[in-house]
Amino acid sequence: NLDVSGLVDSEGGLLDRAIFTDEALYQQEMRRIFAPSWLFLAHTDQFHKPGDFFTTYMGEDPVIVTLDKNRKIRAFLNSCRHRGARVCRADFGATRNFTCTYHGWAYDLEGNLISVPNKDGYPESFDAKDWGLVEVPHIETYHGLIFGTWNPQPISLRESLGDMAWYMDAMLDHDDEGTVVVGGVHKWVLDGNWKLSAEQFATDWYHVNMSHASALMVLSPTGKTPKDEIVHRTGRQYVDPNGHGAGFPVHPKNRFDARTVHDWTDYAALRERLGDARVEGPLTNGHATVFPNFSYLPVNGSIRIWHPKGPDKMEVWAWTIVDKSMPEEVREAQRLYNLRTFGPSGIFEQDDGENWSEVQAISRGFITNGVALNYQMGMGSEREDGRHPGKTSELYSDAAGRAFYARWRELMNTPAWHEEKQ
Ligand code: FES
Repeated sequence: NLDVSGLVDSEGGLLDRAIFTDEALYQQEMRRIFAPSWLFLAHTDQFHKPGDFFTTYMGEDPVIVTLDKNRKIRAFLNSCRHRGARVCRADFGATRNFTCTYHGWAYDLEGNLISVPNKDGYPESFDAKDWGLVEVPHIETYHGLIFGTWNPQPISLRESLGDMAWYMDAMLDHDDEGTVVVGGVHKWVLDGNWKLSAEQFATDWYHVNMSHASALMVLSPTGKTPKDEIVHRTGRQYVDPNGHGAGFPVHPKNRFDARTVHDWTDYAALRERLGDARVEGPLTNGHATVFPNFSYLPVNGSIRIWHPKGPDKMEVWAWTIVDKSMPEEVREAQRLYNLRTFGPSGIFEQDDGENWSEVQAISRGFITNGVALNYQMGMGSEREDGRHPGKTSELYSDAAGRAFYARWRELMNTPAWHEEKQ
C-alpha cells in the first residue's frame, strides 16, 4: 500500500493529479475506500415482493440486491461459487431462485446453494451449506436509500452520515409517505475518474455560471443571459468530517424549477416539517455527495452513483425519485425536467461530462500530471453559522472538496478490516 500523504494537501488546498490517473492508487481505493465504506445500492421502491432483484456494483464488485422470503433486503456477491460466473445476468427483475447459466448451480433468495447438477459426482465431503453466495454483511436504509458495506463491524449508516442526514432529509423527508422511483435507471459511461464527479457534487457551485451558461440561458423564463440575472448567488456549503458535502443557494423564495412541481408543492407544510433553514436552502436547489460515490440534486429529484471502472473511466447510474404523495402528472413533470437537465443527454449533464473527460484526458501527460491542482477557495472559512448543522462555508468554496480529499487520504492511509490479520 502506498502512503498518499504527499498527494493530498488538504490544509494547503493542493492536490496531486496522480490520484486521478495512477492504477496502483486505484487498486488501493478498491481495498481501502470501497471495501470498508457504506455504499449506495438501490432505492427501496425497486423491491416490492420477495424475489424482486436489482444488480449493481460495490466498487468493481458485482452484487445482487434482492428481497428474501421474509421481505428482508439482502445483497450478495454476483459471482457463482463454482467457477465464478455472474449468477444473475439481468439488470433487474423478479425470480424465485438465481440459477447460474454456466453449469446450473442454483441459489435461493437467502443465498443458499439449493441445486447442483450431477451432484453425485462430488465427494462426500462436499456440503452445499459451504457454497452459498457470499453475502454483504450489513445492509441499512435511510429514507428509502439502501446502502451496504463489506465491513464486518461498521459504524451504523446513520452515524456515518452524521449531520449530512439533516441536508439529505431536505430531499427525502417531505412527508410520511417517503419517495418512489419514476422511470428506469439510466446508465452511461464517461471517460473520467469517479472522484472528479463525486467531488464536484460535494463542493462545486463555482462552475455553474461558466460551464452551464448556455443551458441557464435556455432555461431562463425571461430569456435573459446569465450575466443579467444569475451571476452571483449567496448560499452555504456544508463541510462534513466524513467527506460528505452539499452546496445550496439560500433564498427566501426558493422554488422547484419544474413548474408543475412548484405549483403542487405545499411550502408551508414543508416549513412546518423541515424548518425555514432547509426550505430556504437545501430543499430545492443544490448539489450533494455522500462519500464516497453517491450524489444527488434535490431540484431535479436526481440520485446517482459514480461507479469506478478503472482510474480513467466511470459508469454513471441515475434514478429520478419523487414524493410518493405526488399525483401522476406531477411525478411525470419532475421526471421530464430531470431528463432534460441531468439525464444522459441532459443539457447540464453534457457540460459536466465534457469537463470531467477533458481533465482526465490531459492529466495523462507526464508534465501535466506533475502540476498540482488548486482547492484553495474559502480557505479557513468553515464555521458554525447558527442556521445549518455542522460546519458550513460560502456557496463558492472548495471547503467540502478539501474535506472530501482529507477523508480519502485518511482511508487510503488506514488498514481496512480485511488487512487486520496481516
Ligand atoms: Fe456457475 Fe459453474 S460457474 S455453475
